[in-house]
Amino acid sequence: MATDEPSPSRWSFLWRKKLPEEPEDGSSNTKEEPSQVVTSPLQEGNTGLANGIREKPKKSMFPPFESAETRALAESLSRDIIRGNPNVKWESIKGLENAKRLLKEAVVMPIKYPSYFNGLLSPWKGILLFGPPGTGKTMLAKAVATECNTTFFNISASSVVSKWRGGYFLTPLFYSNGALFILCCDVFFSGDSEKLIRVLFDLAKHHAPATIFLDEIDAIISQRGGEGRSEHEASRRLKTELLIQMDGLQKTNELVFVLAATNLPWELDAAMLRRLEKRILVPLPDPEARRGMFEMLLPSQPGDGPLPHDVLVEKSEGYSGSDIRILCKEAAMQPLRRTLALLEDKVELVPEDELPEVGPILPEDIDRALSNTRPSAHLHAHLYDKFNDDYGSHILK
Ligand SMILES: Nc1ncnc2c1ncn2[C@@H]1O[C@H](COP(=O)(O)OP(=O)(O)O)[C@@H](O)[C@H]1O
Ligand SMILES: [Mg+2]
Repeated sequence: MATDEPSPSRWSFLWRKKLPEEPEDGSSNTKEEPSQVVTSPLQEGNTGLANGIREKPKKSMFPPFESAETRALAESLSRDIIRGNPNVKWESIKGLENAKRLLKEAVVMPIKYPSYFNGLLSPWKGILLFGPPGTGKTMLAKAVATECNTTFFNISASSVVSKWRGGYFLTPLFYSNGALFILCCDVFFSGDSEKLIRVLFDLAKHHAPATIFLDEIDAIISQRGGEGRSEHEASRRLKTELLIQMDGLQKTNELVFVLAATNLPWELDAAMLRRLEKRILVPLPDPEARRGMFEMLLPSQPGDGPLPHDVLVEKSEGYSGSDIRILCKEAAMQPLRRTLALLEDKVELVPEDELPEVGPILPEDIDRALSNTRPSAHLHAHLYDKFNDDYGSHILK
């Protein structure tokens, strides 16, 4: 699986440090080991603006937990962190202007300028991105994280699996830079999964303003986990706890958002939809967006003949962004195949500096790639439009 492919069920957290003038909750928890205090290059000696977001130096990693068990879970979620950055810019997401505008208004601006979002204008607490698979929903969430200036931490699966008893299987990713953190985990449920939800929300509230990102939310809440009533029961308890926690968010003034994404919005029941009050369609790319993707992925090289972008745009009607990536990869593979065929005939291994250049992509390579790749998501596009008409949020022109 490609590293940027979505995983079956992934949960994330985004949060950023409180504004300096805000009172710090959980401040009783000041006995943390220095290793548990999250710091970053931006934080150290810098309390200024990072990408428009005010930062506060050092804050304890964890809120005070009632039991050693929940604390152990929070710790295991946050251990073994590797630095990185999602580094997804808004410009690299082609098209989707409506979705970007709604997301900026609903998440980015309230995080950057909380003072405007009071009373009646208090921010949406639940936001749903829905649309066909491979249309950029996960990318949009990462762009929110990047905009709020984050570093990307990645916790390896195996280390956490072995540490947490009771059968949770977690693959958390942790983004941070002192302005905003994200924590994602793949979860295969068994046992008391609702405790996990409580710990995740406690962590988010502790680090508010924060966004909890539930990717593939349909898989999370409709997960059956195999035979046996107990797992079904665990899934039901988890869902109930999620609803309770989301209700809790509505009642507080803390800036904690739930940002959810799904390919199957109709699998969400009324209770969940009610809490995901702002619903944003992420549709298949229109011709302009497809052109943008082709120009980004297959730029015309000076010296080589121009690539037939017009033909590509015309013939890729109904392709998702991820189908287009596969199509471009297929086209770019053809010249490499020709070069590899030359090398196969050689008996000796050719040294690195004597390797022949890979030739240009030819118009026939594009034709071949088009006939080899098929759109994957277009048959259901009308269902998303219908859902959007019934439940979606729109921008009035
Ligand atoms: N609007 C877009 N602009 C650029 N690339 C896109 C777009 N939509 C999808 N892609 C490509 O498809 C891949 C999958 O996108 P992703 O955000 O994971 O889809 P989703 O979460 O909606 O299933 C991305 O890594 C990217 O290469
Ligand atoms: Mg996704």
